[in-house]
Amino acid sequence: MLPKLGTNETMPLQMTVGLTYDLKDDYKDAGLDPETIAELDSPATIDGLEAALRQMGFTVVRIGHIKNLTKRLSNGERWDLVFNICEGLHGVAREAQVPALLEAYQIPCTFSDAAGMALMLDKGLTKLVLQNHDISTAPFAVVRAQADIDGVSLPFPLFAKPLAEGTGKGISPLSRIETHQQLREVCTTLLQKFAQPVLVETYLAGREFTVGLLGTGDRTRVIGIMEIAITDTDGLYGYNNKTDWFDHIQYKLLTLETEPALFKSLCTLSVQAWQALNCRDGGRLDIRCDETGQPCLMEINPLAGLCPGFSDLVVLAEMAGMSYQALIENIVNETLHRYNLPQPRQRHEAA
Ligand SMILES: Nc1ncnc2c1ncn2[C@@H]1O[C@H](COP(=O)(O)OP(=O)(O)OP(=O)(O)O)[C@@H](O)[C@H]1O
Ligand SMILES: [Mg+2]
Repeated sequence: MLPKLGTNETMPLQMTVGLTYDLKDDYKDAGLDPETIAELDSPATIDGLEAALRQMGFTVVRIGHIKNLTKRLSNGERWDLVFNICEGLHGVAREAQVPALLEAYQIPCTFSDAAGMALMLDKGLTKLVLQNHDISTAPFAVVRAQADIDGVSLPFPLFAKPLAEGTGKGISPLSRIETHQQLREVCTTLLQKFAQPVLVETYLAGREFTVGLLGTGDRTRVIGIMEIAITDTDGLYGYNNKTDWFDHIQYKLLTLETEPALFKSLCTLSVQAWQALNCRDGGRLDIRCDETGQPCLMEINPLAGLCPGFSDLVVLAEMAGMSYQALIENIVNETLHRYNLPQPRQRHEAA
């Protein structure tokens, strides 16, 4: 671990950053289907992160998934900081598992803490917190078992999705629901397929945006806002569109100059939500407008994808003029700031 540094001391020449991730290839022999491992990482992401961290002057150690991490921790290995992008595989707290382990060992770690990660993967609990802070989100119900379906009293059209998934899993044209019969069929299928509750909410018919953020608490700032213009007839940013977005989606930067009122309201909504959920360092929020044009927060991604040239946060940062290198530097510098650790000399302009 780093020695405690006083104000006059400088950063040691080489800080060691451990990299934890869930590489798809590490699970390919486990017999999991492509949709199950869709959220996991490709080699390009790990290569990109390692190169960016080395460029910052760190020594980078590839650790990999949680089982490698536990072995290395119990062997006594330590790192000054861990850059963690493990999505995990099992349970609603799966994104919290690596942060929790690192918290137990008091090793600084990027992004939200274990409690926040577990909360935000549960879209229903997240919406309760948002409602408590008067942050706009669609009315909803959680269907935990088939017996709950007939108790849903929200007006149609509705939208149903798994309570705790990402990468558009479980989202298809069938997710938009017009009748009780459809509600019963879709919820039953989702309950069975994903073995977890279903979130049923008001269908949001308007424009869709994703907002990139950096920082923690008072340091929270918006990187940029990207409109997701879906050219497919289903109009949804679901699993199929996300995995080959080049053919189905147009990304457009929303700016203060082009639509000032909307830009400001999306910034305010996003910063309030980011702070209300104690999000840290960097990530993304997904927003969709209702039929009246009122923006509603759909979900928060405290562990946003970081695949160079592909992931939404990376694409949006680049559209807003922030390179991949600068994005990673900004995230790491936010983590170092939280732990009162010294920052490497900035080679790229800050956000
Ligand atoms: N209430 C809704 N009304 C209309 N469309 C919705 C609604 N909720 C979700 N969608 C559509 O489904 C997409 C995926 O939803 P959501 O962001 O909740 O899922 P996700 O799988 O967690 O996404 P991510 O890949 O960002 O983690 C949205 O981007 C949007 O296009
Ligand atoms: Mg989303």
